[in-house]
Amino acid sequence: DKAGYKHFMAKEIAEQPSVISGTLSAYLTQDSIALPEPGMDFTKVDRLVMVACGTAYYACLTAKYWFEKLAGIPVEVDIASEFRYREPPITPGTQAIFVSQSGETADTLAALHYARGKADRIVAVVNVPESSMAREADYVLPIHAGAEIGVASTKAFTCMLTVLLTMALRASADRGRMNDNQIADFSRKFRGLPGALNVALGRDEIIEDAARQIAEARDVLFLGRGSMYPLALEGALKLKEISYIHAEAYASGELKHGPIALIDKSVPVVVMAPRDGLFEKTVSNMHEVMARGGRVCLITDAAGAELAGSDVWRTILMPEVDEAFAPILYALPAQLLAYHAAVAKGTDVDQPRNLAKSVTVE
Ligand code: M6R
Repeated sequence: DKAGYKHFMAKEIAEQPSVISGTLSAYLTQDSIALPEPGMDFTKVDRLVMVACGTAYYACLTAKYWFEKLAGIPVEVDIASEFRYREPPITPGTQAIFVSQSGETADTLAALHYARGKADRIVAVVNVPESSMAREADYVLPIHAGAEIGVASTKAFTCMLTVLLTMALRASADRGRMNDNQIADFSRKFRGLPGALNVALGRDEIIEDAARQIAEARDVLFLGRGSMYPLALEGALKLKEISYIHAEAYASGELKHGPIALIDKSVPVVVMAPRDGLFEKTVSNMHEVMARGGRVCLITDAAGAELAGSDVWRTILMPEVDEAFAPILYALPAQLLAYHAAVAKGTDVDQPRNLAKSVTVE
């Protein structure tokens, strides 16, 4: 049931504030973190290995920034189809985390089998609690996204991020990096995130307008720095998957090392950049793009928009949030941009060609 929406994808994008509220109530109490696996403990973890495919892989890449920064744990992230055949060494002290909406993706499941008996613990972060991955893991952390019908993953992505961030918080507390007061403060702010997500959804018309222009491009570039880099990757995947427009993502700092050669006035460049410690560097990347005629669509907050100047082609304003929450918030405009571009092109949004919702064969 599309509940009045034109597509399941639109419905699932719109549901995010409420499903994430639900996920947060399952993982946070009034002033602390309460993972559904109370035995989970990060004090003795030396290394995390995170493995997934597609959008779930980008959720892992984002979580790497959180685990490293908040908890000081080294993290390795791998694509399941690479991990499973590479025979990567898994040393004692390693916790292996497998992330999957379906819990049935063949490569991710095979990677889990490979890690069994080698990693200290196997953790499954999944949407389907009765899935194969959930059954075979030591710890299961459900993301509570509810049924996701659209082939393009949207609410499952942000629910994965929500769960992974609470894990990073737990790890931070276990390792004495955050005290009880700091955790209480963080979880209070975290519970306010759905409000910011609603504000992001309210930008729909502005995003649709930019998307209609972007739909005419043959190639689109996405740029981001820090934890916004995986979001740029996710934005590009979403766009190509449902609108069939060629899109690529780069870490902003890589621009000069190749992709800048692509820039001319026919290539829109979507820059995902809240005003954070790296923002000034991103502004200089944007100026390099604009100096070559590139049209910049900047997704930022008010402070960022002010610093970026007036030559930006389109600005999509997000509310200001704590740096840690920005990847969850900025996922929404990226999804809406892809959605409206696909609608403008008239593609089959919920059932894009050649794709299956769950890839259970190699
Ligand atoms: O069920 P999973 O999360 O394991 O699926 C992984 C990928 O197949 C999936 O995220 C895919 O990339 C989506 N179509 C992306 O929107």
